[in-house]
Amino acid sequence: MAMTPRLDGKVAVVTGAASGIGLVTVERFVEEGARVVAADLREDAGRALEARFPGSVRFARCDVTKLPELKAAVDLAADAFGGLDVLFSNAGSGGLPGGVGAFDPEGWDATYALLVRSVAAGAAYALPHLRRRGGGSIVSTASIAGLQAGWGPLCYSSAKAAVIHWTRTAAAELAPERIRVNAICPGFIATGIFGHSLGLSDADAQALAGTVAQRSGAANPIGRSGRPEDIAEAAVYLSSDAAGFITGTHVVVDGGITVGPRHAWDRDAPGPIGQVLGLSRAQIDAMRAAKSGG
Ligand SMILES: NC(=O)c1ccc[n+]([C@@H]2O[C@H](COP(=O)([O-])OP(=O)(O)OC[C@H]3O[C@@H](n4cnc5c(N)ncnc54)[C@H](O)[C@@H]3O)[C@@H](O)[C@H]2O)c1
Repeated sequence: MAMTPRLDGKVAVVTGAASGIGLVTVERFVEEGARVVAADLREDAGRALEARFPGSVRFARCDVTKLPELKAAVDLAADAFGGLDVLFSNAGSGGLPGGVGAFDPEGWDATYALLVRSVAAGAAYALPHLRRRGGGSIVSTASIAGLQAGWGPLCYSSAKAAVIHWTRTAAAELAPERIRVNAICPGFIATGIFGHSLGLSDADAQALAGTVAQRSGAANPIGRSGRPEDIAEAAVYLSSDAAGFITGTHVVVDGGITVGPRHAWDRDAPGPIGQVLGLSRAQIDAMRAAKSGG
């Protein structure tokens, strides 16, 4: 017996829909019965996506940092599909590179406009539509970089932290209106973002994503690389009525990379006591065995 699609009859807007996480999320949303406005800067990839799903996907060419374009993309959901139930604010890039000393006002503002302001503005534009439906779901792509230091550049990391706390605060405000607000914190996901952020062509960026897919499995406890599908699955769940009691939180989808330091899950990584004492794990194990008489 076929299962009922989890987003049956819902209408969604997905930003950053032409590549990576957004692209796979559009595919999954459609499989789950949703109709989707796919918003992205990239016209060719967006039009190709629309052509693959006639009647289910409308492409909106949209730079989410240009607010009239973002509003038009959100409003297209109502014009094309009669309403809006889900906003997935996902567009992003690595933003301003470097640390404290690399501060640059234009780069900082542009990064915040892309990663934070688009989330806040998109929700504001979605609000009247969601109210008309009597509720809805807002999901934003944050990052493990917003939870811990060391996973991204300074500006990106603080912007993603802002998304996580915006999520809590907006969720508190909108809960009485049955509008849920959640974020997803991906770990390393094999997409074009690394190449796109280095200014590579899309073809080269996708090739680099292949390298990430091959290598990143060794970086997390689960032991395989993260895929856009892993994030899309969380987006489907948070957007669905099955997540009706979940709001104001973030779902970490990272293969366990943030559970703790590497030695917590990797027997070959030097542990903290060994590092402090200058002993290998094997030496410590041997000393412990000797102490317990083993
Ligand atoms: N891939 C990862 O490891 C990872 C980890 C944590 C968080 N994220 C986040 O996931 C989200 C999606 O990234 P991805 O990995 O799929 O990267 P990606 O580069 O494959 O896709 C990002 C998409 O966003 C679009 N985009 C960029 N700027 C835009 C703008 N101003 N207006 C409209 N569209 C714009 C790009 O054209 C592209 O299609 C981002 O918010 C990113 O920060 C990714």
